[in-house]
Amino acid sequence: MFKNIVIVGTGYVGIPVAAMFADKGFNVVGINRTKEKVDLINKGLCPIEGDEPNLPELIDKVVKNKKLVATTDYSVCKTADAILICVETPFDSDKWEPKYDSLKSALKSVAENMSKNSLVIVESTIAPTTMETLVKPILENTSKMEAGKDFLLGNCPERVMPGKLLYNIENLSRVCGGINEETRERMLQLYSHIVKGELYPTDCITAEVVKTAENAYRDVEIAFANEVALICEKLGINVYEVRELVNKAPYRNMHLPGAGVGGHCLPKDSLLLSYGVKGILTPELMILARNLNKKMPSHTAGLLIDVMKEKGMDVKGKKIAVCGFAYLENSDDTRNTPSLGVINSLKEKGAIVEIHDPFVKSYEGLEIKKDFYSCVKDSDALVFVTAHSEYKNIDLNKIKGTMKTPIIIDGRNIFDKEEMIKRGFHYRGVGKG
Ligand SMILES: NC(=O)c1ccc[n+]([C@@H]2O[C@H](COP(=O)([O-])OP(=O)(O)OC[C@H]3O[C@@H](n4cnc5c(N)ncnc54)[C@H](O)[C@@H]3O)[C@@H](O)[C@H]2O)c1
Repeated sequence: MFKNIVIVGTGYVGIPVAAMFADKGFNVVGINRTKEKVDLINKGLCPIEGDEPNLPELIDKVVKNKKLVATTDYSVCKTADAILICVETPFDSDKWEPKYDSLKSALKSVAENMSKNSLVIVESTIAPTTMETLVKPILENTSKMEAGKDFLLGNCPERVMPGKLLYNIENLSRVCGGINEETRERMLQLYSHIVKGELYPTDCITAEVVKTAENAYRDVEIAFANEVALICEKLGINVYEVRELVNKAPYRNMHLPGAGVGGHCLPKDSLLLSYGVKGILTPELMILARNLNKKMPSHTAGLLIDVMKEKGMDVKGKKIAVCGFAYLENSDDTRNTPSLGVINSLKEKGAIVEIHDPFVKSYEGLEIKKDFYSCVKDSDALVFVTAHSEYKNIDLNKIKGTMKTPIIIDGRNIFDKEEMIKRGFHYRGVGKG
């Protein structure tokens, strides 16, 4: 029943989805507004850096066998049976509203080109009611067709995560929100080709709330863990030991604390959820949680400032190496990275900051070094913000020998405090008093 599939937006979500459908034999076209990204895909190259198991090989395979092509041209929607929209949906915290420019422009271009009877699915995460108040009107007004009669419309939010893109699509369950029974049935048919997990049919608004709520839930959980971490620091104990013992009690599953929450999704999805009831209800808990998580990068920088003060040092003019710029271990994803908050806090105090990351090539003019040992040489302190695997295997004796002062701030529980002290480091960690 489905033959031609168009994926609009070939980023972290769109490219694995496109490759998986192509691998199942569908003719897939990925649309991206950026020509460089289109060219990369058409060369069979993965547009995402970082450790992404099996994705580069799969893209190479499906491009070679001509099942996946990429383009900037929306006219390919004319022959598409299904069109999946996977563009970014950030949140503007200053204006306190979603930034839907990419979504609106994608919808308009799709509507100008799509044919009757196609199935249009928004995979992007959107605020509750967006399908009804924004997506449907743009598609209907531009195409002059009626949703439910001339074309089908659904919302199937993604549950991917960098580092597990293919795995999550294949194995996790999905919520298929459709505007009517026929849409839901067609969505289930479509996704059953690539998803082994359970597919749950529902309406669009439920799907919108489920997606934003599942991420808001996680953000609140992390905020709780961070709050306990701050308490443990004050009481001189180790939050990781506390967490382990808390989780021995039935029905407890305390999250990991850390130097901050990043990525495209968690920092904004509780805001999207709250936006869905703007003017009728003001959610409190998830906003408090968001604010607490936002403070963790400056708290992490504060641990360094405190330890330096204790040693009679001032961070001003000192060379500090911030280790890890991606928000997630073994990934190149820098969106909303807490590292930036740590770096800015240190720079505000006059520190000279060097940045190391094995996966991130560049970020808005900041120099990011690839070689760990040359980055940390002659530094007065190291601040670990991302738990890249490389850091777990560093030669501690070697770095101690090359640093000016052996101060280590650990934002991700990479090192054991006692061991580090034994080795002669001045060590502080988030949640480790
Ligand atoms: N990244 C994740 O882990 C993740 C997980 C679950 C859900 N999501 C949601 O999925 C959506 C996409 O996220 P992402 O991480 O893939 O974003 P992304 O920025 O990696 O990819 C979006 C892509 O869409 C392209 N694009 C934007 N506007 C376009 C247009 N009008 N026409 C053609 N291409 C266009 C961009 O160039 C970009 O390559 C977001 O709503 C996000 O919240 C993301």
